[in-house]
Amino acid sequence: MSKILLIHGPNLNLLGQREPEVYGKVTIEEINKDVKKEADTEGITVEIMQSNHEGEIVDIIGKAKDRFEGIIINPAAYTHTSIAIRDAISAAGIPAIEVHLSNIYSREEFRHTSLVAPVALGQISGFGKYSYILAIKAIAKILNK
Ligand code: DQA
Repeated sequence: MSKILLIHGPNLNLLGQREPEVYGKVTIEEINKDVKKEADTEGITVEIMQSNHEGEIVDIIGKAKDRFEGIIINPAAYTHTSIAIRDAISAAGIPAIEVHLSNIYSREEFRHTSLVAPVALGQISGFGKYSYILAIKAIAKILNK
């Protein structure tokens, strides 16, 4: 069974309370529950972590190659700033899908640039918690083909 890693970046632990007009009322626990359910349906296993620390995310991606066949990541604010996370994904050499709850292209201009997108297989942005569900479907298709 394919095993993948889902990484939630900074401040996503605050979902539900954080800017509900942008991110909705869904909590990270609800997202994780739905992600696990979808992964079950798709016949893949998912391990989930959240970190507010760039270096920790880099470390985890660095070790992912040996344990996982793919990565789904919402790099949150690091999307727009972190060459280190981009390089870690590139070095891991396993497929990575970038997800965002909000449509980053309809928001402030500084969110229009993703440093991660060029090294990701693809990006899913703007569908709230369904961005994660779509990412599970996509990675399962790719890994199980
Ligand atoms: C986000 C979008 C980012 O611009 C922002 O910094 C986040 C969340 C999203 O899921 O919509 O923290 O990644």
